[in-house]
Amino acid sequence: MQADRDRLRVLVSGATVIVADPTVTIDEELLKAAGPDLKLVANFAVGYDNIDLAACRDRSVVVTNTPDILTNATAELALTLTLAAARRLSDAERDLRAGRWTGWDPGAYRGLELTGATVGVVGLGRIGKRYAALLKGFEVKLLFTSRSSNPEAERALGARQVELPELLGQSDVVSVHAPATEQTRHLIDAGAVALIGATGVLVNTSRGSLVDLDAVADGLEAGTLGAAGLDVYEGEPEVPGRLLAAPRAVLAPHIGSATFRARDAMARKVAENVNAVLNGSEPPNRVS
Ligand code: GLV
Repeated sequence: MQADRDRLRVLVSGATVIVADPTVTIDEELLKAAGPDLKLVANFAVGYDNIDLAACRDRSVVVTNTPDILTNATAELALTLTLAAARRLSDAERDLRAGRWTGWDPGAYRGLELTGATVGVVGLGRIGKRYAALLKGFEVKLLFTSRSSNPEAERALGARQVELPELLGQSDVVSVHAPATEQTRHLIDAGAVALIGATGVLVNTSRGSLVDLDAVADGLEAGTLGAAGLDVYEGEPEVPGRLLAAPRAVLAPHIGSATFRARDAMARKVAENVNAVLNGSEPPNRVS
């Protein structure tokens, strides 16, 4: 749920610290409502695309996030969505619950077997790397894209760095792990969906803005996209009705870091950052 703006404006008025999360847009208007005492915006998330960093800098407001401790939880969810989408788990469960299951059927619900498949990791940051490492047991062939050349990762993961079109065209599974920026908006558009193709599986646990949901819904409806496993949506918590109704889609409500361990650690990290700034020392997770 997007936080109610009127209520937020009242809540932040006179604050020294704002603890935000991905549902809270920190922009010039909210900073102004907070007023001149504001020192810190501590985001309860690793992603900080909800925060206008330039506006914070202009007001000398520090921004922190919660990296590392949610890396494994999010990578595990990406793996969960990979397997669930590849095996059409949502369609199968939906049929069973609705009483449509008529018994074992040799032709029903056939999907991709992950072992031996080619997996493309779009963005080899912390979460992308962990996802790639978790895939080791599946003996997959790994491709990845990265902003910079990354020979060390190639060696460590036994992966090959390629350009995005090659990754999209060659991978059986494409998992998106890049940050949300102006440059990455709709990185996965209709052309990308066409390259992933009728047998390909698209997974997104990064941010909704990276994936054009109309293109995904079109692909699933037309059978030109094999399957999708999504945790994040442009404009969330709204999810397009076409996507909800589409076949071969596994849809989670932005739960990448929702493990007991990760959420507790995130809360502790937020507290560490707040304490540091209030005590006049450098916060451990400053992003700006
Ligand atoms: C959650 O989406 C996060 O960025 O931590």
